[in-house]
Amino acid sequence: MSDYEIDRVKTGIPGLDELIEGGFPRGDTILVAGKAGTGKTIMANQFLYYGAVKYNEPGVLVTLEEPPRAIKRNMLRFNMDLDSLVQQGMLAIVDLYPSKEVARVNIGEYPSFDLSGLEAIIMNHVNKIGAKRVVIDTLSILAYKFRSRDILREEFFKLTANITRHGATLLLTSEIPAQDSGLGVFDIEAFLASGVVVLYNEKISDTSRSRSIEVLKLRGSKHSSRIHSMRITDEGIRVWPGEISPSH
Ligand SMILES: Nc1ncnc2c1ncn2[C@@H]1O[C@H](COP(=O)(O)OP(=O)(O)OP(=O)(O)O)[C@@H](O)[C@H]1O
Ligand SMILES: [Mg+2]
Repeated sequence: MSDYEIDRVKTGIPGLDELIEGGFPRGDTILVAGKAGTGKTIMANQFLYYGAVKYNEPGVLVTLEEPPRAIKRNMLRFNMDLDSLVQQGMLAIVDLYPSKEVARVNIGEYPSFDLSGLEAIIMNHVNKIGAKRVVIDTLSILAYKFRSRDILREEFFKLTANITRHGATLLLTSEIPAQDSGLGVFDIEAFLASGVVVLYNEKISDTSRSRSIEVLKLRGSKHSSRIHSMRITDEGIRVWPGEISPSH
């Protein structure tokens, strides 16, 4: 491979690689965004699970929104056994779930908050198991801790750059709020990510919704510009590359 050829990381989501020239560019930061319940957490964990099982790439899961127990239980429904990966040293889970409890504090109340502690914890796990994939679900939950948007942008940038510096591919999830929250955290994340994938679960009639997926951007890649059908099956998330979503 030449120095300028892009090494692709298989996503582990059937059908998705075909939309993005074979996978995410290795060492990049990818944002998986969508409204509540669109499948972000499932996609992120499937990326880690199949990364380990099919492609032999160890991963680190940083969870801020759900306790590890709930994630493991939900992923088992798709026959993805995260515990067995942990036992094999192919997955490390960083449990930061309780941070949600204090999410009521207003922006500006943490004058000297930064992400260097979080970075040290993550890098410790990355180095210990030789992780090639890292998931943070969801970084934006920490946004309220920063005094200003500029500091937040700077801190998010440092964290993501330092995680990916040695070649790990980073997947961040972000909830697109139903109403604009005013903070614009999503804009910052979308800007610092080199790829943005958006998941939808749109109403298509009075009685039904339909899931779909869009690759909004992927630097260095000739990606699909259509919105494709996606389903959550008994085996997890699957994308139909040839099928254009009926809701769009
Ligand atoms: N076993 C399953 N089979 C089919 N669909 C499922 C299954 N488990 C979950 N789902 C669907 O996936 C949704 C949850 O997906 P997920 O937790 O990945 O969403 P999310 O985008 O992370 O949501 P949030 O923003 O709340 O974190 C559920 O609301 C349900 O619609
Ligand atoms: Mg989630």
